[in-house]
Amino acid sequence: MSGNKIILEVKKLSKVYDKEVLNIEHLSFHKGKIYGIIGPSGAGKSTFLRLVNLLESPTKGYIYFKGEKIFLNDHTAALARRDMTMVFQKPLLFHTSVAENIAYGLKARRFPKEKIKARVEALLEKVGLKEFAGRHAATLSGGEAQRVALARAVAFEPALLLLDEPTANLDPTNVQLIEQLILELNKDTEMTIIIVTHNIFQARRVAREVVFLHEGHIVEAGETKKIFTSPEDPRTKAFVEGRMVY
Ligand SMILES: Nc1ncnc2c1ncn2[C@@H]1O[C@H](COP(=O)(O)OP(=O)(O)OP(=O)(O)O)[C@@H](O)[C@H]1O
Ligand SMILES: [Mg+2]
Repeated sequence: MSGNKIILEVKKLSKVYDKEVLNIEHLSFHKGKIYGIIGPSGAGKSTFLRLVNLLESPTKGYIYFKGEKIFLNDHTAALARRDMTMVFQKPLLFHTSVAENIAYGLKARRFPKEKIKARVEALLEKVGLKEFAGRHAATLSGGEAQRVALARAVAFEPALLLLDEPTANLDPTNVQLIEQLILELNKDTEMTIIIVTHNIFQARRVAREVVFLHEGHIVEAGETKKIFTSPEDPRTKAFVEGRMVY
């Protein structure tokens, strides 16, 4: 049982570009759960992940990771980066072999050689790319590349994994493989996972809790089943029924 430990919490979080695109009064994420963030295009989903992952600073408000306030420009960023990681819609791989890609984070963290070898092998097996260890990353298909990106991201078993539309460009087979991986990782390691997705069916399949964002605000958040079967807000209802244009 993962208990009720809060791993991530945001308070009065706001991001202003030309106008305010995100404004979240309060939101917390518990250890070991999978969360889905859904909402129409432009709702602020990616902005939220970028702030949490310290790719950008909030205009106002605070982010707490494992109980500590974290900021982009001080030592807390290094602490956060040690234990959280993000995978993007378009897989970003290094120009080297598949195995080197997966080993990257482990090397950076100075894992012993033998351990790196074993971990890379286990991950290759897990993502169904055992024969691909020596292949150059540039030669992979989109789905294979995304599986490698995921394997690389989780190699050091981060406490928090952020996924921004990780399957948006993929075929159904790769979508299924990646969803399976997400569920297994969560089950085996109690990794907390936040997945941003346009795809309400995907949120329904993998997330235990769902946050529905609209125009930068949380319209509704709660257990996936409740959000999909008895939403309280008419906008949530419209979105989960596919009636809201996005
Ligand atoms: N660097 C930026 N400068 C100005 N506006 C930005 C910037 N980044 C994002 N925005 C705006 O902020 C709003 C939220 O964008 P965001 O990318 O978070 O939406 P999203 O929910 O991820 O949408 P999508 O589902 O299309 O990926 C949008 O209106 C977007 O145009
Ligand atoms: Mg986005």
